[in-house]
Amino acid sequence: MVKRVGVAILGLGVVGGGTYQTLVEHRDFYLKTQQVDISVEKVLDLNLERLKALGVPQEAIAKNIEEVLADPNVDIVVETIGGIGVAKTFVTAALRAAKTVVTSNKELICKFSHELEKIAKHNHCGLYYEASCVGGVPIIRTLLDGVQANHIQSMMGIVNGTTNYILTKMTYEGADYAEVLKEAQKLGYAEANPTADVDGYDSMYKLSILSSMAFHTKIPYTKIFREGISAVNVKDIAYGREFGYTLKLLAIGKNTDKGIEVRVHPTFIPSTHPLASVNDSFNAVYLTGDAVDDVMLYGRGAGALPTASAVVSDVIYAATHTDIKYSTFKNNATAENNVKFVSDFESAYYIRLSVEDKAGVLAKITGIFGKCGISIVQITQKSGAEDGERVPLVVITHKTKENAAKNAASKINASGIGTVEAVIRVEE
Ligand code: HSE
Repeated sequence: MVKRVGVAILGLGVVGGGTYQTLVEHRDFYLKTQQVDISVEKVLDLNLERLKALGVPQEAIAKNIEEVLADPNVDIVVETIGGIGVAKTFVTAALRAAKTVVTSNKELICKFSHELEKIAKHNHCGLYYEASCVGGVPIIRTLLDGVQANHIQSMMGIVNGTTNYILTKMTYEGADYAEVLKEAQKLGYAEANPTADVDGYDSMYKLSILSSMAFHTKIPYTKIFREGISAVNVKDIAYGREFGYTLKLLAIGKNTDKGIEVRVHPTFIPSTHPLASVNDSFNAVYLTGDAVDDVMLYGRGAGALPTASAVVSDVIYAATHTDIKYSTFKNNATAENNVKFVSDFESAYYIRLSVEDKAGVLAKITGIFGKCGISIVQITQKSGAEDGERVPLVVITHKTKENAAKNAASKINASGIGTVEAVIRVEE
């Protein structure tokens, strides 16, 4: 006999709409391939125009969450509202009603997985969130199953489509930041408030979730160093390319002897690195495990159907498995007491200064780097100015501590011989 599973979708925006469309259009396909008949029993959204545009039948339109949760035909609740207001209330209520929840909400999972997973376990239902990180790229399932054999040593990811789209256009077309942001919003990549994308919050939430899974301990987002792309100057992207680097907003997690290091910031990587060719709204995660060595997952990290692909795959998993997969770590609000975090991490640096073009300046600048214990790999003065005018000076350093780089920058600014215009971390 065919198993029947009913789904409710809360929020029919970009991702919810894509989820509705996928479930409806692929219903026969799933029946054939999974021997399960997955039907959309209810949808909840205040915007009736959207429901009409998607062709949702009248009988499937719920008036409120109570109606959704009281429906005995609803087994799985999909939450695609976003944010931590009403979405948290609805997800909590669904889990309490013993409905399995599938969500695309990274902020919710990042900040409240410890609470929600406890309620899910208590009520013997599932909480699945593949779509919360990196859109259509199956990174959560990979971490839960595919690479479980390994101690994951590091992960570097381009996990935000909007910023990757913007940086790609700035790199290859010299495009204007604000214009490209508008385009990304039109294409449905950006968050409702694009600050979440461009200031790195979206990547930070995703890194918190992914590194918790990779390193088997809760990594609260408050431990993550975060810097976005809104201050990136197209000039630095161009200079970096002359040194053989490409600029990406990376989410980096490392599990080292000294502790766990987690950070999100614009990063120069060698243009030959596989992540350097991940362009437009595409995302990728590059993992290194002690047995498997390097693994890279690549795909669309944003957009209606790619994200719906992750949501619906979770729905299918929940509909076809009786066992429930929870996180691989003790899902607390904080990391265990014995877990150490490294905040003064090591990195190489690209530093652009503006200095007066006159005798002795270079010696003074290199002197400051030397006093701060920073070894220089390359130093280049960009195109000539008249004697006494200010010129750009680009310094590439060997690996040094973050605090040493900051110290050198403030000493240069205080010395009056130059101004630090840009500091960009470099990963080799
Ligand atoms: N705003 C996100 C991005 C969408 O640009 O990647 C998916 O989280």
